[in-house]
Amino acid sequence: MNNFKYRNPTKILFGKGQIENLATEIPADAKILMLYGGGSIMKNGVYEQVKKALSDYEVVEFGGIPANPEYSVLVDALKVIKEENITYLLAVGGGSVIDGTKFLSAAALYEGETPWELLTNKKPVTEGMPFGTVLTLPATGSEMNSGSVITRAETKEKLAFGGPGMFPQFSILDPEVIKSIPERQIANGITDAFTHVMEQYMTYPIGAKLQDRFAESIMQTLVETAPAIMKDPSDYEAASNFMWSCTMALNGLIQQGVPGDWAIHSMGHELTAMYGIDHARTLAILAGNHYRYNFETKKEKLAQYAERVWNITEGSLEDKAHAGINKTEEFFKSLGIDLKLSEYTENYSETGSTVAERFIERGWNGLGEHKTLTPTDAQKIIEMSY
Ligand code: NZQ
Ligand code: ZN
Repeated sequence: MNNFKYRNPTKILFGKGQIENLATEIPADAKILMLYGGGSIMKNGVYEQVKKALSDYEVVEFGGIPANPEYSVLVDALKVIKEENITYLLAVGGGSVIDGTKFLSAAALYEGETPWELLTNKKPVTEGMPFGTVLTLPATGSEMNSGSVITRAETKEKLAFGGPGMFPQFSILDPEVIKSIPERQIANGITDAFTHVMEQYMTYPIGAKLQDRFAESIMQTLVETAPAIMKDPSDYEAASNFMWSCTMALNGLIQQGVPGDWAIHSMGHELTAMYGIDHARTLAILAGNHYRYNFETKKEKLAQYAERVWNITEGSLEDKAHAGINKTEEFFKSLGIDLKLSEYTENYSETGSTVAERFIERGWNGLGEHKTLTPTDAQKIIEMSY
């Protein structure tokens, strides 16, 4: 196991009715900017619950943060923060609203020329305006981590940044919010969380037995819960397990002391930036082929995964590893997710080479757990996924 330092300061309020307790988490003299997305919270009662809980506060609202949070919209929100002398941010939404709020938290205290530099200067963010979240869509884990992914339509870029100053102070996880989530977004949430675990697990053995079993148990729970939550999002038991699994998949716990890959995400973000494909679907398109392409360096963990998550006991290590890849793809398909890029866009023929060029421009010459996945390798994996 590698050395690690681990701290996660985000307080979680989990369960039915927890939105009522919002006021216990925010300083009484705070002037709050409440941020939300395209309006789902107006239809499912979350808006009323939040407003009621905040009735003793001065609250300014900023809605309209789109899926894949857009820089130009966030720049408008930043003006509101400055003009209104906001002191506290509250994200009410899914990963996009939370990531947008994280960006604003950092941008509010940023002293450089333009806040886009936060995405490009590669400096970890050490301080931000305090913020909390009310999660409405389990998927990204953003509610309990310090990362954020921001899109800039003007340049077709989608870049990640973060740092110890970007953890939410608290997050409210009420599984009842899942009732109103459309099936497509539930499938996305399961797929995103499952892939988060794989990115931190499907590398090479390092003797971290507990992290392996944490990771396997999250994947098993997602596999077990998926049919129930897809069938009935108001099934509270399924919703609770789904929600907590998504948070645990990317709150730092399973990544301690082990190598991480994250190449699927790096490639996937390009597909979203170029074609607007849902984040999770880009991962499903690429994951199987990423593992086929990097089979030799990942086969031990693939075989362990096949045995422990999918109960595959027959055949050689290689046979099991291949079966594990196939099971993963079958699982994504069972959620109604298409696995070929050509099923999402007709203009795919140059995608691999375009992504390779972008990686070269950014100096991303070695991705993955061994830092050896070149732009040409990325091109080939994407071409395998047409
Ligand atoms: O905008 P509204 O109207 O609220 O509708 C949203 C949106 O259209 C809707 N929705 C959310 N909660 C709902 C609901 N609809 C009905 N009922 C509810 N309770 O769902 C749609 C998608 O929302 P979004 O926030 O975009 O989805 P998700 O949570 O999957 O977030 C995706 C974003 O997170 C980034 C992705 O790249 C993408 O930009 N990620 C962030 C990560 C992180 N910070 O750690 C890691 C991930 O790998 C990922 O990259
Ligand atoms: Zn993801």
